[in-house]
Amino acid sequence: MIQLTNITKSFGRHQVLNKIDLTVQKGEVVVILGPSGSGKTTLLRCVNYLEKPNDGEILIGDYRLNCKHASKKDIYQLRQKSAMVFQQYNLFKHKTALENVMEGLVVVKKLSKEEAKTRSIALLEKVGLGSKLDAYPSQLSGGQQQRVGIARALALEPEVILFDEPTSALDPELVGEVLAVIRKIAKEGITMIVVTHEMGFARDVANHVVFMDGGVIVEEGTPVELFNNPQEERTKQFLKRITPELNYSI
Ligand SMILES: Nc1ncnc2c1ncn2[C@@H]1O[C@H](COP(=O)(O)OP(=O)(O)OP(=O)(O)O)[C@@H](O)[C@H]1O
Ligand SMILES: [Mg+2]
Repeated sequence: MIQLTNITKSFGRHQVLNKIDLTVQKGEVVVILGPSGSGKTTLLRCVNYLEKPNDGEILIGDYRLNCKHASKKDIYQLRQKSAMVFQQYNLFKHKTALENVMEGLVVVKKLSKEEAKTRSIALLEKVGLGSKLDAYPSQLSGGQQQRVGIARALALEPEVILFDEPTSALDPELVGEVLAVIRKIAKEGITMIVVTHEMGFARDVANHVVFMDGGVIVEEGTPVELFNNPQEERTKQFLKRITPELNYSI
C-alpha cells in the first residue's frame, strides 16, 4: 500500500500542494487528473523525493518516511521503492535501449552484467522492443523511447511506478502503443499512479481517479463515480472542458 498523508509543498511563498492525503492499494491503478499547474507533477515528484515535501508522511510498502525528519539514508531507501516514467522519456542518449534498461540493474540493484542483460532483454521483449536492443534513443520513435522508459522502470521492480503524462509528448498515432503497454503491465498487478489526460485510458484502466486543482484533491472516486456523476463544480467544469461530448450539467 502507498499512503500519502498531509503532503505539503511550497516553492517560495507559492503553496503548490496543500495537505494532500492519498491512499493507493497494492495493485491499484490510480489516475490523477487536473488542470495545468494544479500540482500533479509536483505530487509525483514528492513521492520519490525528486522534490522534498515541506511536511507530511510517505508510506510505501513497509517503509514509512516523515518528510520533516528524513535523513539521506531514508531518502535513498524511499527512492528504491518507486520508479518514474517521464513525459520526455529521459533516456541516456549515448546508451542503447538495452544499456538504458541495464543501467539501473547494475548500478542500483547490483546485478552482474550478465544477469542484468538477460533481465533487460526479457523486459524489452515484453514492451515489444525485442528487435531494438542495440538502437540508440535517436534511432527510436517517441513511442519506442517511452517503451524503453517503461522497461527501465519495470527493471527496478518498484512497489509503484509513477507515470507523469507518459503519452503527452507523442504524436497521436504513437499514443496507442504506449497505452497498450501500460495497460498490459497494469493487468499484471503492478501498482501505478498515472497523471494523464487520456480519458479513455482512465476510464478503462483506473481503479481510482483523483481530480486535483489548486494543490488540493477536489474529488476522488471510481471512474464511474468521477466521470458519470461528478459532485463538485470544479470537477464538472474540468471534465466538460476536456470531454465536451459528455455533456456534464453544471
Ligand atoms: N521548481 C519549481 N520552482 C517554482 N515553482 C514551481 C516549480 N515546480 C513547479 N512549480 C509551480 O508549481 C505549480 C504546480 O506545478 P506542477 O508542475 O506540479 O503542475 P501540473 O499539475 O503538473 O501541471 P501540468 O499539467 O502543466 O504539467 C505551478 O504553478 C508551477 O509553476
Ligand atoms: Mg505536470
